Amino acid sequence: MQFADGRWVVSDYDDVRAVLADPVTFLPDNALTAVTPVAPAALRSLVRARFSLPPTLANNGSASHAGLRRLVASFFTPSRVAAAEPRIRSLVLERLGGSDLVRDLAWDLPAIVLMELLGLENVDIPTLKRWSSGSLEFFWGNISRERQLELVDDVGDFHQWLVKRYHARDGELFCALADAGVSAEDSAGLCYFLLIAGQETTTQLLSTALRRALSDRALWARLPSAGVAESFVEDVLRTDTPVVTWRRLTAREVVLSGVRVPAGAELVLLLSGKENDPRHLAFGYGRHFCLGAGLARLEAAVTLRTVAEHEPSLRLVGDEPEWLNLLSFRAPRSVTVVR
Ligand code: HEM
Repeated sequence: MQFADGRWVVSDYDDVRAVLADPVTFLPDNALTAVTPVAPAALRSLVRARFSLPPTLANNGSASHAGLRRLVASFFTPSRVAAAEPRIRSLVLERLGGSDLVRDLAWDLPAIVLMELLGLENVDIPTLKRWSSGSLEFFWGNISRERQLELVDDVGDFHQWLVKRYHARDGELFCALADAGVSAEDSAGLCYFLLIAGQETTTQLLSTALRRALSDRALWARLPSAGVAESFVEDVLRTDTPVVTWRRLTAREVVLSGVRVPAGAELVLLLSGKENDPRHLAFGYGRHFCLGAGLARLEAAVTLRTVAEHEPSLRLVGDEPEWLNLLSFRAPRSVTVVR
């Protein structure tokens, strides 16, 4: 337990699990709060775009969470996720042969799969990726005012697009939300988070997993065998998870690992596991446990297995890549290969 930059960092597995298990003492309200306070000029743009993130899923400690979660979960039942396997495999096959496995494979695949599962058609994937990767940096980056201004239009445009699609009942997800009586504002906030969390994280997991798998020749050769990709993905999630931290807010004074923490304190929970400890909290725990854990695991295992099967001689080249390095997200920005 450490105090750094105005936040309390909780690293012990049992402490982190206990925090996630108790949403009354440890509120999820700050889960989507911008890491860098939004400067006035960027705030004015957000107000003009009528941007808002009301409590819906990850940032919702109120009673409305359960119903919204049930609605979203119905799109990711185990049978719907399992049925996506052949589609994931064929998307991987179409993307073989590139020289950067992030740009040419991991970048858009999870977004395409997510749009199909949510029944959202005619989505321009490059635009969605620009909006969602920009939003990730805007909310979780330690960024300058200038960078905020560069990104803020993508944040606002993305949100306005969601409001428009809700009003037009354009796609299964928006119809389900409107039919359940969820307002335009809540729907847009919910979808804003879901369309980012549901694919940027998986792009990151694929990038890290491909890079790590390619740096171990013996593992690369074994990946096509039954079960090897699945257990490797679990190990990547344990030690190199893309979602490195998640946040909570203390509702009252608490003692964690013998340290007194005041009410209203921001906690940064470390989600990776430790050496020689098979447990991890990569997908969180308790009431807010990730709704896409099964999908992310499947996409990663199928991708690794398919690439390794078809490209046994693929090799990593080049220097250490640049890394995405935000408060909660970490992954290589490129995985350069030759064959
Ligand atoms: C490697 C990929 C992923 C990782 C590491 C990850 C991680 C996480 C974490 C740490 C949380 C917070 C859990 C908590 O507060 O206890 C979360 C929540 C969530 N994730 Fe994921 N996620 C991934 C992929 C996905 C995908 C593919 C989806 C799409 C369905 C998704 C949808 C969600 C949703 C909707 C929540 C909020 C749930 C709630 O508040 O009830 N995630 N995820």
